[in-house]
Amino acid sequence: MTQQPQSPQQPLNTCIQQMLSDASVSIQSLPQCEQIKLWLVEPEAMRRPFSQQEILSIQSYPAYWAFCWASGQVLARQILANPHWVKDKKVMDFGAGSGVVAIACVIAGAREVIACDIDPDALLACAANARLNQVDYRLHGDLFDFNEPLDLLIAADVLYDKANLPLLDIFRQKASKVLVADSRVKDFNFPPYQKIGRQESFTVPDLDELDEFRWVNLYRA
Ligand SMILES: C[S@@+](CC[C@H](N)C(=O)[O-])C[C@H]1O[C@@H](n2cnc3c(N)ncnc32)[C@H](O)[C@@H]1O
Repeated sequence: MTQQPQSPQQPLNTCIQQMLSDASVSIQSLPQCEQIKLWLVEPEAMRRPFSQQEILSIQSYPAYWAFCWASGQVLARQILANPHWVKDKKVMDFGAGSGVVAIACVIAGAREVIACDIDPDALLACAANARLNQVDYRLHGDLFDFNEPLDLLIAADVLYDKANLPLLDIFRQKASKVLVADSRVKDFNFPPYQKIGRQESFTVPDLDELDEFRWVNLYRA
């Protein structure tokens, strides 16, 4: 018997259904960065009321990679508008999730791009989204065993977990320049990081988050 070829979303649906059994992904454009399309969770599945069991399941398997977070959308847009930020550089998208920033870096002319995420399912999504956007980049799981010099490390919305704050120092050891986009940390005061901008955005699909999470701050070191 011949096997049917797998559709590109099938492995991603298998992953996301660990979180919610009726969730699935579809190709979605980013409203603020229409050049990029991503496999993201179908919004209907996230808008219905959840049972207690489902809440526990979402907490234990938060499929971050199935959303484009506000910071990722802002950075992708900014990188495409300012390609000189990354042109000819070796860049890492740390906490890549869907790979949105990595995709923007390749389109903007980076010399080499590495999408780094600790979640193996995120790396699967990064690979699927690279194919969808017809770009190519490397995948990597653990920043601590990455020892190649980087011109630029970009991190979008990875500080939602306070345990990640010490990474701000590690980023500077790994790359000559660091660009951080964040919508979660209040009173961000981590010298030598300097605030270079603030922009309004939203997560895709839009989760109708609190207004405060719709403001993305950009920092560089
Ligand atoms: C909120 S998502 C942001 C994804 C993407 N940057 C965006 O803006 O859409 C955070 C991502 O960081 C990843 N992450 C968290 N801690 C990490 C770590 N220590 N090393 C690598 N990735 C990490 C998570 O797995 C998740 O995919």
